[in-house]
Amino acid sequence: MGIPFRVERAIQFVLATEPSRPLKVLDFGCGDGTLVLELVRNGFDAFGFDIDPDRLKSARTRLTACGEMYRIIGPEFPVEARWSFGLILSNQVLEHVADLPAAVRQLSAVAASRAIAVHVFPTKARIFEPHLHFAGVHWVRPGRLRRWMILAACYLGGGPRWSELEHLTFQQRADRFESYLANRVYYRSTSFIAGTMRTIGGWNELGQNKSLPRMPRSLCSRALPELFFRSQILTVQAP
Ligand SMILES: C[S@@+](CC[C@H](N)C(=O)[O-])C[C@H]1O[C@@H](n2cnc3c(N)ncnc32)[C@H](O)[C@@H]1O
Repeated sequence: MGIPFRVERAIQFVLATEPSRPLKVLDFGCGDGTLVLELVRNGFDAFGFDIDPDRLKSARTRLTACGEMYRIIGPEFPVEARWSFGLILSNQVLEHVADLPAAVRQLSAVAASRAIAVHVFPTKARIFEPHLHFAGVHWVRPGRLRRWMILAACYLGGGPRWSELEHLTFQQRADRFESYLANRVYYRSTSFIAGTMRTIGGWNELGQNKSLPRMPRSLCSRALPELFFRSQILTVQAP
């Protein structure tokens, strides 16, 4: 897998705005390090941070293969100005961040002056919940109705095929999915995220979905993709 299409568009957008290289890049919530490796291969001075020890382990293994293991940092966040990242990326991460203000403080501490951050994340607008692939479950409050929706979807064989769930009954899978949705996913609107970044870190919003090609403002080309599969791209600039 290379650089995801939407992240690639975001990087192109940033390079067009601030073309100075080499660019020190932070992949916030780097997961298994795939993007960090791709960025390094493409000439970026890239680093990845994650809070999950298992993800860090696989990211370090991936980067060890090319002798660049030191580029993966965590689980403690290195809050030091010396990092001075010029570009901060997060792909499918902000919806998993439990404490958004804390994350904004961390990013503000390691961002260079006028650094650009591009956050790619799904919002609640999607019809199919992006992790469980069930329609509408994330629109319903935790409780009996949501439980029944998840149970019904599992009974019909729906849901992601996570390997650790293979031996479980459909009720047990429903328990896991319900708990995942309640404890690991935190949907916030794009404007709420932008507002938190502005008030806590002084980040200025440069735009939403700016790194995408221009599209006519019609229902078909804007609203429908958002509902079905599109993630938001929020671009902000540090003070
Ligand atoms: C869906 S994965 C995305 C991983 C990677 N960005 C990718 O595109 O494949 C979400 C990642 O966010 C990380 N994460 C969640 N909360 C975080 C936080 N507060 N700080 C840093 N990483 C976090 C998780 O550990 C996980 O690796």
